[in-house]
Amino acid sequence: MKISVIGCGYLGAVHAAAMAKLGHDVVGIDVDSGKIARLSEGRPVFFEPGLAEVLISAIESGRLRFSTDIADAAGAQVHFIAVGTPQKRDSHAADLRYVDAAVQSLVPYLAEGDLVVGKSTVPVGTAARLAEMITASGSGASLAWNPEFLREGFAVKDTVSPDRLVYGVPAGDEGEHATALLNEVYASAIAAETPLVVTDYATAELVKVAANAFLATKISFINAMAEIAEVSGADVTQLADAIGFDNRIGRRFLNAGVGFGGGCLPKDIRAFTARAEELGRGESVAFLKEIDAINLRRRQRVVDLTVSSLGRPVHTAKVAVLGLSFKPHSDDVRDSPALDVAVQLRGLGAEVVATDPQAIENSRLRHPQLTYSTDLDETLRGADAVVLVTEWPEFRELDPVRVATLVRTPTIVDGRNTLDASAWRAAGWTYLGLGRP
Ligand code: UDX
Repeated sequence: MKISVIGCGYLGAVHAAAMAKLGHDVVGIDVDSGKIARLSEGRPVFFEPGLAEVLISAIESGRLRFSTDIADAAGAQVHFIAVGTPQKRDSHAADLRYVDAAVQSLVPYLAEGDLVVGKSTVPVGTAARLAEMITASGSGASLAWNPEFLREGFAVKDTVSPDRLVYGVPAGDEGEHATALLNEVYASAIAAETPLVVTDYATAELVKVAANAFLATKISFINAMAEIAEVSGADVTQLADAIGFDNRIGRRFLNAGVGFGGGCLPKDIRAFTARAEELGRGESVAFLKEIDAINLRRRQRVVDLTVSSLGRPVHTAKVAVLGLSFKPHSDDVRDSPALDVAVQLRGLGAEVVATDPQAIENSRLRHPQLTYSTDLDETLRGADAVVLVTEWPEFRELDPVRVATLVRTPTIVDGRNTLDASAWRAAGWTYLGLGRP
């Protein structure tokens, strides 16, 4: 199929590449000429395992190209909208200006029977509004909403073989046409019997925010248990194991630590709350404010634990911060708990040296005042405390005996509860986890 993808950020670049990998003829469009130039050379603008390889082979096959000209979307049957919906500067609501602009700029190039497919995460009600815009244009095109559930770090795999497909489509013939086109786009996933939910716009929009709200709730739930464990002497990791054996609960997403971040979970729960308030049902998701608050408290806890573990005034101490990205296998520092912890410790006067296998460049752009090092040993050397805040394999695999010879004081704050506490203690370390004795 001929496909256009409008917006080539984390979502769009991966989607465009994955669609070409599936055999479609794809043009990726973005207003950022620098981004388009890099993508055209097969060089992703962010770190995503496996993406460069898929981009290069798709470009070489002739099935994938990139452009800054929206007119190049003309001739495609399916047009994916994959632009960002960040949090507004002055409120918790989602900023829809990029989605609106993308659809508006696309409308003149739509032909009879074309399908515009929204993938961006939007407040419920957006699709109905955009559908009216498309209908009013008289192009004969229609709209579907097809939320994306990809996880950074596994984005290509999640796009090529999703764990479910959701189509929000209009009623009647238009809806059948949209479903048929999307089934053709996702023919390989359909053939693999991927669960498919065909529904209305509102449900499709809500599926995405509900899923992210649930995941955020699960993480903050276990982090709340960590807070209780901290005042009662219990061990939250054992608690998570024990409740996780109940299939109704499940162990995944029950890792207590410094909390969630990234470009989705934090902003999506805030935008959901804002939208529910607009709809007069703020109380229904008021608990999400608590989820957000618990999450932010965990960052503070890591900072407090670190400061109180120092045997000296914080402004005379060196703290080694291991991790900057919001999770491993990503260079994304949007709303990253790790970067936040580093910034807060620096703000308290500590000499902070931070390292990360991928996220230093992005961190430096936002916080040039921090000291960064690409050398793990140099980061650790002379430290009065080590704070692990992103569980990259190279940090998890550190040898406590060797690292003890580098630091000034062997104190480690394990912000992800990922290290073997007994091995670190046996090597002479003061080991401090979250919600663990
Ligand atoms: C998430 C959703 O998983 C995905 O389906 C959606 O489309 C976009 O948002 P992503 O932001 O890539 O994906 O990250 P995810 O792997 O979900 O992790 C989110 C955050 O939660 C990370 O900061 C991670 O460190 C944290 N987390 C996750 C925990 O603190 N504990 C856990 O047990 C799991």
